[in-house]
Amino acid sequence: MDFTKVAQKYGTPLYLYDFGHFEKQYRKLKEAFRGRKSLIAYAVKANSNLSVIKKFADLGAGADCVSIGEVKRALRAGVKNYNIIFSGVGKRDDEIEEALRLGILFINVESEAELKRVETIAKDMEIEARISIRVNPNIDPQTHPYISTGLHQNKFGVDIETAKKLYIYSHNSPHLNPVGIHFHIGSQLTQLSPIREASEKIANLVRHLQVLDIDIKFFDVGGGIGIQYSDEVVIEPYDYAQAILSTLSGLDVTIIMEPGRYLTANGGYFVSSVLYEKSNGDKRFLIVDGAMNDLLRPSLYNAYHKIEFITNSTSSETSKGDIVGPVCESGDFLGKDREIPKEIEHGDLVVVHSAGAYGFVMSSNYNSRGRVCEIAFENGEYRVIREREDFEKLIELETKFL
Ligand code: LLP
Repeated sequence: MDFTKVAQKYGTPLYLYDFGHFEKQYRKLKEAFRGRKSLIAYAVKANSNLSVIKKFADLGAGADCVSIGEVKRALRAGVKNYNIIFSGVGKRDDEIEEALRLGILFINVESEAELKRVETIAKDMEIEARISIRVNPNIDPQTHPYISTGLHQNKFGVDIETAKKLYIYSHNSPHLNPVGIHFHIGSQLTQLSPIREASEKIANLVRHLQVLDIDIKFFDVGGGIGIQYSDEVVIEPYDYAQAILSTLSGLDVTIIMEPGRYLTANGGYFVSSVLYEKSNGDKRFLIVDGAMNDLLRPSLYNAYHKIEFITNSTSSETSKGDIVGPVCESGDFLGKDREIPKEIEHGDLVVVHSAGAYGFVMSSNYNSRGRVCEIAFENGEYRVIREREDFEKLIELETKFL
């Protein structure tokens, strides 16, 4: 990846995505489930650029969406409606109605109250809604508390007993068709045992439902496969597949996965330029043109991202310091206590790695900073897949009220 060339051509800050990496990750995971019916429903929330979704759609992926906006993005990018899932704890009536009208694979229901809304809306539309129920298996995924979702203390899904009740209710309703079951215990998972345990619990529930003549066709294991940000030992697709498959004996189900981070994180780079450097006492700061509004993960989760410096200096000497942005918040940093080259100049590049998931999508216009451009690298060529937001774009929805 020629960061210097890209920065010169498109300016900084920017996001750069290696589409070859995206494809490699997709194929590895798909291959691991060879011989079973499986669907990779890309978790659009990780990186919802239309060209990124299209890349996965072209490879045969479906889409896991958490708002009607994401559903519409997926359709626009070429994902087939019968490969789209709509999840989320708080769907509005209009979102449910539109999802039903669009004929997606199923709505993933997260509470009894929501199930009743879906039923009422389907009844009004005189149709039968395909649904799955998100079951919370109450398993500690051993990950960051902000991205852990599989414990009862989290807001997601329903417990197993409630799930049974809701499946029976749906089975008896002329407007609900329970075709799937879903769980997702957390994100950035690096341990296999919680995944296996959760899968086991849910598979047993499927067996129980079979006895009641409720035939679950889609076994949705959610997303969450972790990636290497620094020195994590990550789960290999083959082991992941084996862990899940080992729990499914005797069940004829299509396995659905919803990976986001695994597919895109390590194919993405956030490229910024050095503006200034300063010291407050003994503390060294490198001020760059990229900030927390562009890449929020370090500020929000204290997340570690590897940072690469591209300088003209021949010296390899470094000293510790923080890499910070121009936003008026002390929490605005991309990296803390990092080894930074001693000789670094205005215009040198600072490249944040593993930024292809939950990077651009979590960016904002805070401090009236336009969102940055996104560039794809594919088949040896670079191309813009989202323009940099200019000032006019930034104020477009306000000017008519002046
Ligand atoms: N499926 C469901 C139901 C989810 O809630 C999520 C992520 C995924 C799939 C995709 O998870 P992945 O494979 O990407 O781990 N902003 C946070 C991550 C939030 C994840 C929310 N749910 C971050 O930057 O780490």
